[in-house]
Amino acid sequence: MNDLAGKHIVLGLTGGIACYKAAELCRALVKEGATVQVVMTEAAGQFITPVTMQALSNRSVYGSQWDAREANNMAHINLSREADAILIAPCSADFMAKLLHGRADELLSLMCLARPIAEVPLLIAPAMNREMWAHPATQRNVAQLKADGAHVFDVGSGEQACGEVGDGRMLEPDELLAEVVAFFQPKSLLGQRVLVTAGPTYEAIDPVRGITNLSSGKMGFAIARAAHEAGAEVTLVAGPVHLATPRGVRRIDVKSAQNMHQAVMEQAPDATIFIATAAVADWRPASAAEQKIKKDGTGQAPALAFVENPDILAGVAQSERARGGALYCVGFAAESHDLLANAQVKRARKGVPLLVGNIGPATFGQDDNALLLVDEHRAVELPRADKLTLARQLVAEIARRLGHAA
Ligand code: C5P
Repeated sequence: MNDLAGKHIVLGLTGGIACYKAAELCRALVKEGATVQVVMTEAAGQFITPVTMQALSNRSVYGSQWDAREANNMAHINLSREADAILIAPCSADFMAKLLHGRADELLSLMCLARPIAEVPLLIAPAMNREMWAHPATQRNVAQLKADGAHVFDVGSGEQACGEVGDGRMLEPDELLAEVVAFFQPKSLLGQRVLVTAGPTYEAIDPVRGITNLSSGKMGFAIARAAHEAGAEVTLVAGPVHLATPRGVRRIDVKSAQNMHQAVMEQAPDATIFIATAAVADWRPASAAEQKIKKDGTGQAPALAFVENPDILAGVAQSERARGGALYCVGFAAESHDLLANAQVKRARKGVPLLVGNIGPATFGQDDNALLLVDEHRAVELPRADKLTLARQLVAEIARRLGHAA
């Protein structure tokens, strides 16, 4: 992915042990397509050298407002005018206090103060000891910085360099990268609450065997991530898959279709958009054996009886909120042929305004896909791309249909 292509980010480092993570973060931003200009405070230089940051960003590092390299001798103006965002990572407690008061006695704080506030967002990744983080002064500063328009990221929790355990660690580089990428996405679903199902279901035959399918969950997880990036509150009901939960998404793990049905019915009353990507088993064994079914030596296969699972999507689509327009339902159809015709029939049968068709064998387990969006009036093709790109396009289409285009 090149999610930050064309973005110029000024990466500010202040004094803290988390500077070691800033090296990896710089590399990750560059890999994602951004150009990165590093600015370091004197204290940051106690933790990591400008040489390291220069090598990773491929640009010489700035550290002083008296830097004679700038023809007009105004590094604070030039650097901030070029930026799409200023990201302070790590941001120490002291530096937050400085920002709060509009202090400007060295290059980084001077640059933050001098930035055009409406055009150059200020992103802050705090990093400090847990007592410093919990202190009322710091919490007051965080609240005020947010009120002043800065975007303050959460802190991580866990073991700290000082040996104590608690809140205040800087987020990991991959987490911060996801936050920065999300920050730049259009907020087309702000205020929406999105419920997504993803992955396969598992229908037990006995304690060690069951019926499942090849759905990887990747499309549903990508949609959950894209909806969160678009500003929605997202709940993801996931069948058994080994995928990391997208940042900021609430995840409920389930196993069987019945578990998924129950979880969805509990969550649906709070949702404004329901996107069913899960490959739900149509049938389950009528009863799961309590003990492992063994061969009895006769060569006779055990007779399994099946009962039909509830159709989760169709059930939600029939609810009063869905029929009244308060809950917008989107279904998926994995077909093997005649995508348009099959998707049209399925849309009508499920009673949903939008159905997304894809060719099952061509997408299960893959990182890319191609989608066909079928509504009452027409079909829109989203050509083959990676699943996150498609998920963002689908989210934009849903927002457009709801009249919330960014
Ligand atoms: O009928 P079919 O399984 O092809 O329909 C696919 C769509 O319906 C998907 O959106 C899927 O998540 C949803 N579905 C469901 N509950 C079922 C079966 C399918 O929500 N029992």
